[in-house]
Formats: sequence, C-alpha cells, structure tokens
Amino acid sequence: MTIPTLLRWVVTCTLIMTTSLVSAADAKASGDPEAGKNRSAVCLGCHGLNGEGKEAANGQPAFPRLSGQLQSYLKKSMHDYKNDSRKDPMMGAIAKGLSDVDMENLAAFYANLK
Ligand code: HEC
Repeated sequence: MTIPTLLRWVVTCTLIMTTSLVSAADAKASGDPEAGKNRSAVCLGCHGLNGEGKEAANGQPAFPRLSGQLQSYLKKSMHDYKNDSRKDPMMGAIAKGLSDVDMENLAAFYANLK
C-alpha cells in the first residue's frame, strides 16, 4: 500500500465512524430506547419477548415483527392506530393507551433491537 492510499483509507474510515456516531446520536435524540423497553411489557405477549413477532396460529392473527423495523415507520404505525387511520381492534385499543412520548420511546426501543 502506498502512503497516499493508506491516507485515503484512514480518512474514509474516520468519516464512516463519524457518520455512524452522528446517526446514533440522532436516534437517541428522538426517543429513549431504555424508557421504551420499560414501556414494552404490554407488547411482549403479542409481539414476542424481543419483538420478533409470531406467525398466525390457533385462530390468532399474525403478530408482526417489530425488532429492527424502521423507527419512523413504527412511530407512524402507532399514531395511525391511535387516531384510527389504521384500524385493528387489538392495536387500536393498545395505542389509545400510549402517549406521544411512549410511542417515540417504543419506536426507538424496537428499531434498535436486532
Ligand atoms: C393483544 C395483542 C397485541 C398487543 C398487546 C400489542 N400488539 Fe401491536 N399489533 C398486534 C396485531 C394483531 C398487529 C397487526 C395489526 C394489523 O394487521 O394492522 C399489530 C401491529 C403493530 C404494529 C404495526 C407493525 C407493522 O409492521 O405495520 C406496531 C408498530 C405495533 N403493533 C406496536 C405495538 C407496541 C409498541 C405494543 C406495546 C405497547 C403492541 N404493539 C402491543 C397485536 C398486539
């Protein structure tokens, strides 16, 4: 490896590291995953211990996977259930008990689960 190539490589790595640090900080700024975890006890029964979801069985519907889903999509879905623009009897009832902050934190928690 020549010196200029090595230098370019170091600069690229530094850039990548800085970018991922900044986006991790952004995710944290819009929702607290720890608080979301504490609020998620009510979700486990349906969506699974780690938000992995459950396939439809025994007359139950499918419970979709939440872990690793995009944070903005999770948040929007919960708001949509809460204001009935997306209708589901189970999620409608659950979402009506969640505040804006709860939804923000839950979305941050599940988006960061793998
Ligand atoms: C009683 C069972 C039940 C509980 C408890 C429950 N959910 Fe759900 N959830 C469902 C079902 C069923 C669906 C799929 C509904 C549909 O088809 O729109 C769903 C869908 C969702 C979706 C949309 C997923 C997608 O891919 O579009 C989100 C987000 C969600 N739930 C979050 C939560 C959170 C957060 C909690 C805890 C606060 C929770 N749910 C608790 C049954 C439940």
